[in-house]
Amino acid sequence: MNRIEVLRQYIDNILLNMLDVEERRCAYVHLYGVAQYCALIALKRGENVELAIMAGMLHDIYSYAKMDTKNHAHKGAVLAREILTSLQITNEDETKIICDAIYTHSEKGLVHFAFNEVLKDADILHHCLYNPTLEIMPHEKSRYEKLKIEFGIV
Ligand SMILES: [Fe+2]
Repeated sequence: MNRIEVLRQYIDNILLNMLDVEERRCAYVHLYGVAQYCALIALKRGENVELAIMAGMLHDIYSYAKMDTKNHAHKGAVLAREILTSLQITNEDETKIICDAIYTHSEKGLVHFAFNEVLKDADILHHCLYNPTLEIMPHEKSRYEKLKIEFGIV
């Protein structure tokens, strides 16, 4: 099995143990959805697609595993490192790249390394396109508008 699928199998096991069915549905849709937008954006920007998918799959795992969103980016980076270390599917450099992106992913008002920005923008795209008939959250608007331009939508 390739390492993306190894990671997905591990994450699926966490999600399957979520007792709240609606939260479980959100978790699957969001983690898989963000991972796919990560792939799309990474392809467009010449970033590492495989690592981007892995970051997307892991980015909110803390929130769903612990049912606690407080400081989930920082705590999630620690949990992601534990998961990647136990699965032995990344080297130290790759683990650092993924975990750094997870650590900064809530800071949408700041700009970090290009790889970190892939995850933030994928998160925004998923929020905005999950149901495009709903109003875009004010703090997501400017990134969303830039993404539409980048992808030639407007
Ligand atoms: Fe997210």
